[in-house]
Amino acid sequence: MCGIVGYIGHREAYPIIMKGLQRLEYRGYDSAGIALYDGNQINLAKTKGKVIDLKSKSENSISLEGTLGIGHTRWATHGIPNDTNSHPHYSNSGDLVIIHNGIIENYETIKKELSKRGYVFSSDTDTEVLVNLIEEVKKKENVLLGKAVQIALNQVVGAYAIAVFDRNKPDEIVVAKLGSPLAIGIGQQEFFIASDASPFIEFTNNAVYLQDQEMAIIRLGKEIKLRKIQDDAIAYPLVQELQMNLEEIEKGMYDHFMLKEIYEQPSAIKDTYRGRLRVEQGIIKMAGIDQNIERFLNAQRIIIVACGTSWHAGLVAEYIFEDLARIPVEVEYASEFRYRNPVITDKDVVIAISQSGETADTLAAIKLAKERGAYVFGVCNVVGSSIARETHAGAYTHAGPEIGVASTKAFTTQITILSLIALKLAKEKGAFSDSKYHEILSELENIPSKVEVALESNSLVEIISEEYKDSDNCLYLGRGYNFPVALEGALKLKEISYIHAEGYPAAEMKHGPIALIDEQMPVIVIATNNGHYEKVVSNIQEIKSRKGKIIAIVTEGDEQVRELADHVIEVPETLECLTPLLTTIPLQLLSYHIAVMRGCNVDQPRNLAKSVTVE
Ligand code: AGP
Repeated sequence: MCGIVGYIGHREAYPIIMKGLQRLEYRGYDSAGIALYDGNQINLAKTKGKVIDLKSKSENSISLEGTLGIGHTRWATHGIPNDTNSHPHYSNSGDLVIIHNGIIENYETIKKELSKRGYVFSSDTDTEVLVNLIEEVKKKENVLLGKAVQIALNQVVGAYAIAVFDRNKPDEIVVAKLGSPLAIGIGQQEFFIASDASPFIEFTNNAVYLQDQEMAIIRLGKEIKLRKIQDDAIAYPLVQELQMNLEEIEKGMYDHFMLKEIYEQPSAIKDTYRGRLRVEQGIIKMAGIDQNIERFLNAQRIIIVACGTSWHAGLVAEYIFEDLARIPVEVEYASEFRYRNPVITDKDVVIAISQSGETADTLAAIKLAKERGAYVFGVCNVVGSSIARETHAGAYTHAGPEIGVASTKAFTTQITILSLIALKLAKEKGAFSDSKYHEILSELENIPSKVEVALESNSLVEIISEEYKDSDNCLYLGRGYNFPVALEGALKLKEISYIHAEGYPAAEMKHGPIALIDEQMPVIVIATNNGHYEKVVSNIQEIKSRKGKIIAIVTEGDEQVRELADHVIEVPETLECLTPLLTTIPLQLLSYHIAVMRGCNVDQPRNLAKSVTVE
């Protein structure tokens, strides 16, 4: 999964593209490149490494002039990260230059055919094959670039978001999309292309998100022309006025995007239930549910498909839906679900959860579920994302852009949305009393202020982090609603600090993990005062008797656990079903501070990408 940026207009392209690439680095950052047309020739620089490496290489090796250009930050899929395999890629003639996010699955077959026709390849990438296929079609069919791209793309199998231009026709850029995101920013006499809106939001908030199998010929001074790649049918651009603004992108006062996003959770949760949660009227308004409520109420079961943190949010939803709405729920790793030939019927409702809306496994699970008749509902954070478009209906979390690779506000806003859905269905089903319903509604409305209070533990968490930053292993324990939070806390720690961490149901400890407990093992135990509190206290005693180091997340005012644990971090009291929204906060902060103290790259942890758009 990579980041692509392009510009054609009246400004100098270089600064726009370079800054845009920096904003997209979360999508992939093992190599980067840029190509600029200076009115006479294409000047191209590319390198293994980060965008900052590209910046210094470009500024010391090529002319930076020109009002047409494309840039790319890579997450390798074909060909190891090195200068040659970095994008952009030239065609053999040097006339065409392309950037690509995605995978061309049949590139080897095409490469063989092109080699027979005398094409040579300097890289191991599928992208270089694609640009030469376009060149071959352009020559053989004697057509313009747009048509050549269309014909070529009908010969490839795979996923792509591409931008390509011809130095002999420098007043246009051709873009196309299938399976990978591509947005076009529409300015005054200028156009921007990017994987998401962050590179151009400071210039324009008018954007067109290409749909799958769409391509656009972007010509200066002209309206963009959209085409369906398969049948050349005209597609009409849906211009969206984006609400996202720049400061949402920039780190603001925080050292890292992750910390900024942890602190954004009160507002993100509020934005997510805004307009949906109407406590005074005692209603929950969600168009995607309202219009299809029967599908949910008559569902034989709800199957949740997701990956990573989104899967943990799905696990929380399992507890909420079954506890409140009495609807059977199964939570599946999308990567397993898509391949295990699952039993799916038209009585099933599938909820797909994805922050990026581009996770390949989740997208594939959705397609499978739809093929087998299920009704699929999406919970995504990115407007216009592939998953948002592939599902029958959905609800957006309004968390705003989540740049840090480690998901934080996405998790709590997903739980918010899922809580609203469960509550709505519970009310429709008469699954519990009006008073309980209103109690939960009004408590949900209080959650943002309680998250603010939970965030006040930051300094205490930082002190605790200092003590455990050099641990080799860590155990997270929780029961009931907080078992998924234990899993999520462990994932946070391992993915950004590289400390091995495992989450477990607290009662499972005696079935094995207790053998791990010694003075070197920090154990984080979620011990809020509801949900089997006494059982968790006895688990804490078992750990203590084996000299484990205990960091307990407790309800404010708790005295009993304070007597037993080495450290206690308080969160405000709330209803059991809403505790995950609070107990996850100190765990996010703990992983953040430990990672910073270990000198890790918190926003771009090694080996990870923000959205896994390939298998
Ligand atoms: C979580 O911190 C990770 N970034 C990762 O597990 C992520 O949740 C997973 O890749 C799913 O991404 P999605 O929500 O965009 O589908």
